[in-house]
Amino acid sequence: MTRLLQRSLFLAAIALSGMAQADDLAMGQKLVSNHCAGCHTFEKDGPPGQGPNLFGLIGRKAASQTNFTYSSAYSNKMAGNVWDEARLDAWLTDAQTLVPGSAMVYSQDDPAKRQKIIQYIKSLH
Ligand code: HEC
Repeated sequence: MTRLLQRSLFLAAIALSGMAQADDLAMGQKLVSNHCAGCHTFEKDGPPGQGPNLFGLIGRKAASQTNFTYSSAYSNKMAGNVWDEARLDAWLTDAQTLVPGSAMVYSQDDPAKRQKIIQYIKSLH
C-alpha cells in the first residue's frame, strides 16, 4: 500500500469514528429524553423533578443536590460515593438492586443502551 493511500484510509477512519460518536450521543440524548426526562432535568441549574437534576453528574457526589430530598434508603447507601461510569452502569442496570428501597424504579438490561445514556450524560458539563 502506498503511504498516501494508508494516510487517507487513516483519515477516513478518524472521520468515521467521529461520526459514529456523534450518532451515539444523539441516540443517547433520545434515550435520555424518553427514559429519564420525565423525572430529571439535565440542564445546568435545572430544577428537580420527581428526581434530582443530573447536569454534571459524572464526578459529582451522590445524594448531593440540596434542592432535592433523597429517600433515606438512597442517602444511607449512596452518600459519600462519587458518580463514575461504572456506578452509573450498575444503577441503570437495576436501581433497586443497587439501592433496595430507592425511590427510583428503573432497569435497563441492554448494555448498549446504557452506554449511550451514560456517554450522553458524561458529555454534559
Ligand atoms: C419515574 C421517575 C424516574 C425516572 C424515569 C428516572 N429516575 Fe432517576 N431518580 C428518580 C428519583 C425519585 C431519584 C431519587 C432516588 C432516591 O432518593 O431514592 C432518582 C435518582 C437518580 C440518580 C441519583 C442522582 C444523585 O444526585 O445522587 C441518578 C444518577 C439517576 N436517577 C439517573 C437516572 C437516569 C439516567 C434515568 C433514565 C435512564 C432515570 N434516572 C430515570 C426518579 C426517576
